[in-house]
Amino acid sequence: MKIFEKQADLNAYLQSVPAAHASLGFVPTMGALHQGHLSLLAESIKKNKHTVISIFVNPTQFNNPEDLEKYPRTLEADIAKIKTVSNEIILYAPSVQDIYQGQTIAQHFDFDGLENQMEGAFRPGHYDGVGTVVKRLFEIVKPTRAYFGEKDFQQLQIVKKLVQKLKLPIQIIGCPIFREPNGLAMSSRNERLTDTEKERASLIFKTLKTAKSKFKTQSAAKVNAWVTEVFQKSPEISLEYFQIADEANLQPCHRKNNQKKYRAFIAVFINNVRLIDTVSLN
Ligand code: PAJ
Repeated sequence: MKIFEKQADLNAYLQSVPAAHASLGFVPTMGALHQGHLSLLAESIKKNKHTVISIFVNPTQFNNPEDLEKYPRTLEADIAKIKTVSNEIILYAPSVQDIYQGQTIAQHFDFDGLENQMEGAFRPGHYDGVGTVVKRLFEIVKPTRAYFGEKDFQQLQIVKKLVQKLKLPIQIIGCPIFREPNGLAMSSRNERLTDTEKERASLIFKTLKTAKSKFKTQSAAKVNAWVTEVFQKSPEISLEYFQIADEANLQPCHRKNNQKKYRAFIAVFINNVRLIDTVSLN
């Protein structure tokens, strides 16, 4: 397996591979890899001649310093997991210096309002940080296709907008959410939960599934009120937001429109660990 810490070395290697950029899949991650990440890698391998994965805990997208500090860093275990998918995968695991060249600041982006909803509203500056690092990684790796999970559906829409606005010749592919057997969406942050907390966290997806069935006959406002009540009865999980939104522009649904696709989005805290999840409603 090829591993690079410096963009110059990654680029030199890719230049030595004939037509590498003609069919190059890319999976950007922050490491602490799990089945969800590996499913993106598997998808990339199926469709592209070469695949690059990046592991970089991006400081500019963390609005909470404690979250950045406690973010799991497990490079050796990550490398072992990548090898279980394929030995041919190319890993780019840069330092902050290699990405930011001494200027660890985010660029400001206009994503046509996508950035003001949900995660953007509750994590100020988060999508400027994501936009900055994804743009930089795209410039470095120059992939043909890049793979993102629907787990972070708002991020997926924002990356599509970034590519469209910057006219980058990269196809963005959304991949389904991988879950634990109890329904909990896999996340690097789950490593910070105890077994009991992981069990409790199954309430998140269970609630989303019931919300989905309620939304068939009830208004968004009614479903919102029901979800709020569910979490009020469950004090060990605190609800940050629940929102039913138009999949395309992420605006909250006030009145249902049969022409539109909707999605439910949720963020909760369990003992200071922030978890998000989403389901499609139609
Ligand atoms: P990270 O949270 O490591 O996620 C990397 C990719 O894996 C994202 O596209 C995310 O949506 C996807 N992913 C996470 N959990 C998943 C699951 N359970 N099932 C399927 N896919 C899942 O998202 C980031 O990193 C960063 O913001 C990044 C894009 C790398 C920029 O720093």
